[in-house]
Amino acid sequence: MIGIFDSGVGGMTVARAIEEVLPDMRIIYFGDLARSPYGSKSPDAIKKYAREDTEFLISKGARMIVVACNSAASVAADDLEKAFDIPFFEVITPAVRNAASASRHGRIGVIGTRATVASAVYERKIKALQNDLQVFSQACPLLVPLVEEGWLNKQETKMIIRRYLHRLKIKQVDTLVLGCTHYPLLKKLIQPRIGKRVRVIDSAISVAQELEEHIRRNRERYMSAADPDHNIYYLSDITEAARQTARKIFGREIEFQLAHGLFSN
Ligand code: DGL
Repeated sequence: MIGIFDSGVGGMTVARAIEEVLPDMRIIYFGDLARSPYGSKSPDAIKKYAREDTEFLISKGARMIVVACNSAASVAADDLEKAFDIPFFEVITPAVRNAASASRHGRIGVIGTRATVASAVYERKIKALQNDLQVFSQACPLLVPLVEEGWLNKQETKMIIRRYLHRLKIKQVDTLVLGCTHYPLLKKLIQPRIGKRVRVIDSAISVAQELEEHIRRNRERYMSAADPDHNIYYLSDITEAARQTARKIFGREIEFQLAHGLFSN
Protein backbone atom coordinates (compact mmCIF):
# COMPACT_ATOMS: atom_id res chain seq x y z
CA MET A 1 0.00 0.00 0.00
CA ILE A 2 1.36 3.41 -1.00
CA GLY A 3 1.05 6.08 1.66
CA ILE A 4 0.91 9.64 0.37
CA PHE A 5 0.90 12.72 2.55
CA ASP A 6 0.50 16.41 1.97
CA SER A 7 -0.33 19.49 3.99
CA GLY A 8 -3.87 19.37 2.60
CA VAL A 9 -5.69 18.56 -0.60
CA GLY A 10 -3.15 19.83 -3.17
CA GLY A 11 -1.21 16.56 -2.87
CA MET A 12 -4.10 14.83 -4.53
CA THR A 13 -2.58 16.01 -7.83
CA VAL A 14 0.18 13.52 -6.95
CA ALA A 15 -2.34 10.84 -5.87
CA ARG A 16 -4.17 11.23 -9.19
CA ALA A 17 -0.95 10.96 -11.19
CA ILE A 18 -0.05 7.78 -9.23
CA GLU A 19 -3.53 6.33 -9.74
CA GLU A 20 -3.08 6.84 -13.47
CA VAL A 21 0.26 5.07 -13.79
CA LEU A 22 -0.34 2.39 -11.10
CA PRO A 23 -4.06 1.61 -11.18
CA ASP A 24 -3.56 -1.72 -9.32
CA MET A 25 -1.79 -0.30 -6.31
CA ARG A 26 -3.79 0.66 -3.28
CA ILE A 27 -3.32 4.24 -2.10
CA ILE A 28 -3.82 5.66 1.34
CA TYR A 29 -3.72 9.44 1.42
CA PHE A 30 -3.38 11.81 4.33
CA GLY A 31 -3.90 15.56 3.98
CA ASP A 32 -3.10 17.58 7.09
CA LEU A 33 -5.69 20.24 6.40
CA ALA A 34 -6.03 21.16 10.09
CA ARG A 35 -2.43 22.39 10.15
CA SER A 36 -2.22 23.60 6.54
CA PRO A 37 -0.53 25.56 5.00
CA TYR A 38 2.96 24.15 5.57
CA GLY A 39 4.54 26.55 3.06
CA SER A 40 4.58 29.47 5.50
CA LYS A 41 5.72 27.43 8.56
CA SER A 42 9.23 27.08 10.01
CA PRO A 43 11.41 24.10 9.03
CA ASP A 44 11.15 22.69 12.59
CA ALA A 45 7.35 22.75 12.55
CA ILE A 46 7.24 21.18 9.07
CA LYS A 47 9.66 18.39 10.16
CA LYS A 48 7.51 17.56 13.18
CA TYR A 49 4.31 17.48 11.11
CA ALA A 50 5.97 15.34 8.41
CA ARG A 51 7.07 12.78 11.03
CA GLU A 52 3.56 12.59 12.49
CA ASP A 53 1.97 12.32 9.03
CA THR A 54 4.31 9.41 8.23
CA GLU A 55 3.54 7.65 11.52
CA PHE A 56 -0.16 7.96 10.80
CA LEU A 57 0.17 6.40 7.33
CA ILE A 58 2.36 3.56 8.65
CA SER A 59 -0.21 2.88 11.40
CA LYS A 60 -2.78 2.48 8.59
CA GLY A 61 -0.62 -0.05 6.73
CA ALA A 62 1.48 2.03 4.31
CA ARG A 63 4.63 0.19 3.17
CA MET A 64 6.19 3.07 1.31
CA ILE A 65 5.67 6.80 1.60
CA VAL A 66 5.34 9.48 -1.03
CA VAL A 67 5.97 12.98 0.31
CA ALA A 68 3.63 14.84 -2.04
CA CYS A 69 4.10 18.22 -0.40
CA ASN A 70 7.03 20.18 -1.85
CA SER A 71 7.38 22.21 1.34
CA ALA A 72 7.67 19.03 3.45
CA ALA A 73 9.97 17.35 0.92
CA SER A 74 12.26 20.37 0.84
CA VAL A 75 12.93 20.51 4.58
CA ALA A 76 12.01 17.08 5.99
CA ALA A 77 12.90 14.38 3.42
CA ASP A 78 16.36 13.55 4.86
CA ASP A 79 15.02 13.58 8.39
CA LEU A 80 12.23 11.12 7.44
CA GLU A 81 14.58 8.72 5.69
CA LYS A 82 16.74 8.59 8.80
CA ALA A 83 13.80 8.16 11.18
CA PHE A 84 11.84 5.42 9.34
CA ASP A 85 12.88 2.15 7.81
CA ILE A 86 10.64 2.14 4.72
CA PRO A 87 11.15 3.48 1.17
CA PHE A 88 10.45 7.18 0.72
CA PHE A 89 9.71 9.00 -2.51
CA GLU A 90 9.43 12.73 -2.74
CA VAL A 91 8.39 15.14 -5.44
CA ILE A 92 11.62 17.13 -5.76
CA THR A 93 14.31 14.67 -6.94
CA PRO A 94 12.40 13.29 -9.97
CA ALA A 95 11.31 16.79 -11.02
CA VAL A 96 14.94 17.93 -10.81
CA ARG A 97 16.01 15.05 -13.06
CA ASN A 98 13.27 15.80 -15.59
CA ALA A 99 14.09 19.52 -15.56
CA ALA A 100 17.81 18.91 -16.11
CA SER A 101 17.16 16.67 -19.09
CA ALA A 102 14.48 18.97 -20.56
CA SER A 103 16.57 22.15 -20.35
CA ARG A 104 18.10 23.15 -23.68
CA HIS A 105 20.05 26.24 -22.63
CA GLY A 106 20.68 25.39 -18.98
CA ARG A 107 18.37 28.04 -17.49
CA ILE A 108 15.84 26.54 -15.09
CA GLY A 109 13.14 28.43 -13.21
CA VAL A 110 11.50 27.05 -10.06
CA ILE A 111 8.32 28.30 -8.44
CA GLY A 112 7.12 27.18 -5.01
CA THR A 113 6.01 28.24 -1.54
CA ARG A 114 8.17 30.43 0.70
CA ALA A 115 9.40 27.37 2.65
CA THR A 116 10.44 25.54 -0.53
CA VAL A 117 12.21 28.53 -2.07
CA ALA A 118 13.92 29.47 1.22
CA SER A 119 15.27 25.92 1.57
CA ALA A 120 17.10 26.33 -1.80
CA VAL A 121 16.68 22.57 -2.23
CA TYR A 122 16.01 22.76 -5.97
CA GLU A 123 19.19 24.80 -6.57
CA ARG A 124 21.22 22.32 -4.50
CA LYS A 125 19.86 19.24 -6.23
CA ILE A 126 20.02 20.69 -9.75
CA LYS A 127 23.63 21.85 -9.23
CA ALA A 128 24.57 18.48 -7.72
CA LEU A 129 23.26 16.80 -10.86
CA GLN A 130 24.81 19.22 -13.33
CA ASN A 131 26.91 22.06 -12.05
CA ASP A 132 26.66 24.30 -15.12
CA LEU A 133 22.86 24.63 -14.92
CA GLN A 134 21.57 27.98 -13.71
CA VAL A 135 18.58 28.07 -11.37
CA PHE A 136 16.25 31.01 -10.72
CA SER A 137 13.65 30.59 -7.98
CA GLN A 138 10.54 32.54 -7.20
CA ALA A 139 8.24 32.15 -4.19
CA CYS A 140 4.58 32.51 -5.17
CA PRO A 141 2.72 32.60 -1.83
CA LEU A 142 -0.56 33.89 -3.28
CA LEU A 143 -1.09 30.97 -5.65
CA VAL A 144 -2.07 28.33 -3.07
CA PRO A 145 -4.98 30.39 -1.64
CA LEU A 146 -6.13 31.28 -5.16
CA VAL A 147 -6.31 27.59 -6.10
CA GLU A 148 -8.07 26.78 -2.84
CA GLU A 149 -10.62 29.49 -3.60
CA GLY A 150 -11.20 27.86 -6.98
CA TRP A 151 -9.95 30.96 -8.84
CA LEU A 152 -8.43 28.86 -11.58
CA ASN A 153 -9.38 31.05 -14.50
CA LYS A 154 -9.85 34.54 -13.10
CA GLN A 155 -8.26 37.72 -14.45
CA GLU A 156 -6.79 38.44 -11.02
CA THR A 157 -5.09 35.03 -10.96
CA LYS A 158 -3.65 35.61 -14.44
CA MET A 159 -2.36 39.02 -13.34
CA ILE A 160 -0.67 37.63 -10.22
CA ILE A 161 0.92 34.79 -12.20
CA ARG A 162 2.25 37.28 -14.76
CA ARG A 163 3.74 39.36 -11.95
CA TYR A 164 5.40 36.33 -10.29
CA LEU A 165 6.80 35.03 -13.57
CA HIS A 166 8.12 38.41 -14.73
CA ARG A 167 11.61 37.98 -13.23
CA LEU A 168 11.92 34.43 -14.55
CA LYS A 169 10.95 35.64 -18.02
CA ILE A 170 13.62 38.33 -17.88
CA LYS A 171 16.13 35.63 -16.91
CA GLN A 172 15.00 33.76 -20.05
CA VAL A 173 14.42 30.42 -18.36
CA ASP A 174 13.87 27.60 -20.85
CA THR A 175 12.39 25.19 -18.29
CA LEU A 176 10.04 25.88 -15.38
CA VAL A 177 9.47 23.50 -12.45
CA LEU A 178 6.05 23.65 -10.80
CA GLY A 179 7.45 23.11 -7.30
CA CYS A 180 4.18 23.01 -5.39
CA THR A 181 1.26 20.59 -5.22
CA HIS A 182 -1.26 23.23 -6.27
CA TYR A 183 0.44 24.58 -9.37
CA PRO A 184 -0.49 21.78 -11.81
CA LEU A 185 -4.04 23.14 -11.50
CA LEU A 186 -2.76 26.46 -12.87
CA LYS A 187 -0.65 24.97 -15.65
CA LYS A 188 -2.98 26.26 -18.37
CA LEU A 189 -2.49 29.81 -17.08
CA ILE A 190 1.22 29.45 -16.36
CA GLN A 191 2.30 28.04 -19.75
CA PRO A 192 1.19 30.98 -21.92
CA ARG A 193 2.55 33.49 -19.41
CA ILE A 194 6.02 31.98 -19.15
CA GLY A 195 6.09 31.39 -22.91
CA LYS A 196 4.93 28.46 -24.98
CA ARG A 197 8.47 27.29 -25.76
CA VAL A 198 9.36 26.91 -22.07
CA ARG A 199 9.17 23.30 -20.86
CA VAL A 200 6.91 23.15 -17.81
CA ILE A 201 7.77 20.29 -15.41
CA ASP A 202 4.97 18.94 -13.26
CA SER A 203 6.46 17.39 -10.10
CA ALA A 204 3.32 15.25 -9.55
CA ILE A 205 3.84 13.47 -12.88
CA SER A 206 7.60 13.18 -12.30
CA VAL A 207 7.24 11.37 -8.94
CA ALA A 208 4.48 9.09 -10.30
CA GLN A 209 6.81 7.97 -13.12
CA GLU A 210 9.64 7.30 -10.67
CA LEU A 211 7.36 5.29 -8.40
CA GLU A 212 6.08 3.25 -11.33
CA GLU A 213 9.64 2.36 -12.33
CA HIS A 214 10.54 1.37 -8.77
CA ILE A 215 7.47 -0.86 -8.43
CA ARG A 216 8.04 -2.46 -11.82
CA ARG A 217 11.64 -3.27 -10.86
CA ASN A 218 10.56 -4.70 -7.47
CA ARG A 219 7.34 -6.37 -8.57
CA GLU A 220 7.70 -9.42 -6.29
CA ARG A 221 8.19 -7.32 -3.19
CA TYR A 222 5.07 -5.29 -3.83
CA MET A 223 2.84 -7.98 -5.30
CA SER A 224 0.97 -8.45 -2.02
CA ALA A 225 0.45 -4.70 -1.81
CA ALA A 226 -1.81 -4.75 -4.87
CA ASP A 227 -5.39 -4.66 -3.75
CA PRO A 228 -8.61 -4.06 -5.63
CA ASP A 229 -10.11 -2.21 -2.65
CA HIS A 230 -10.88 1.45 -2.93
CA ASN A 231 -8.21 3.96 -2.09
CA ILE A 232 -8.65 5.73 1.22
CA TYR A 233 -8.42 9.49 1.66
CA TYR A 234 -7.92 10.85 5.17
CA LEU A 235 -7.91 14.52 6.15
CA SER A 236 -7.23 16.00 9.60
CA ASP A 237 -10.11 18.42 8.93
CA ILE A 238 -12.84 18.05 6.35
CA THR A 239 -14.24 21.17 4.71
CA GLU A 240 -16.52 21.90 1.77
CA ALA A 241 -13.65 23.75 0.05
CA ALA A 242 -11.53 20.59 0.32
CA ARG A 243 -14.31 18.55 -1.30
CA GLN A 244 -14.52 21.04 -4.14
CA THR A 245 -10.75 21.06 -4.76
CA ALA A 246 -10.78 17.24 -4.73
CA ARG A 247 -13.58 17.25 -7.30
CA LYS A 248 -11.51 19.54 -9.55
CA ILE A 249 -8.44 17.35 -9.24
CA PHE A 250 -10.08 13.95 -9.72
CA GLY A 251 -13.16 14.90 -11.69
CA ARG A 252 -15.14 12.75 -9.25
CA GLU A 253 -16.41 12.82 -5.68
CA ILE A 254 -13.92 11.77 -2.98
CA GLU A 255 -15.30 10.39 0.24
CA PHE A 256 -12.97 11.70 2.94
CA GLN A 257 -12.40 10.00 6.29
CA LEU A 258 -11.56 12.12 9.30
CA ALA A 259 -8.19 11.37 10.91
CA HIS A 260 -8.68 12.57 14.44
CA GLY A 261 -6.95 12.70 17.76
CA LEU A 262 -3.55 11.79 16.37
CA PHE A 263 -1.88 15.12 15.97
CA SER A 264 -0.51 17.69 18.35
CA ASN A 265 0.07 21.31 17.38
N1 DGL B 1 1.53 21.34 -0.30
C1 DGL B 1 2.28 22.58 -0.28
C2 DGL B 1 3.50 22.45 -1.21
O1 DGL B 1 3.51 21.67 -2.14
C3 DGL B 1 1.43 23.76 -0.67
C4 DGL B 1 0.39 24.12 0.37
C5 DGL B 1 0.99 24.50 1.69
O2 DGL B 1 1.70 25.53 1.78
O3 DGL B 1 0.75 23.77 2.64
O4 DGL B 1 4.46 23.15 -1.01
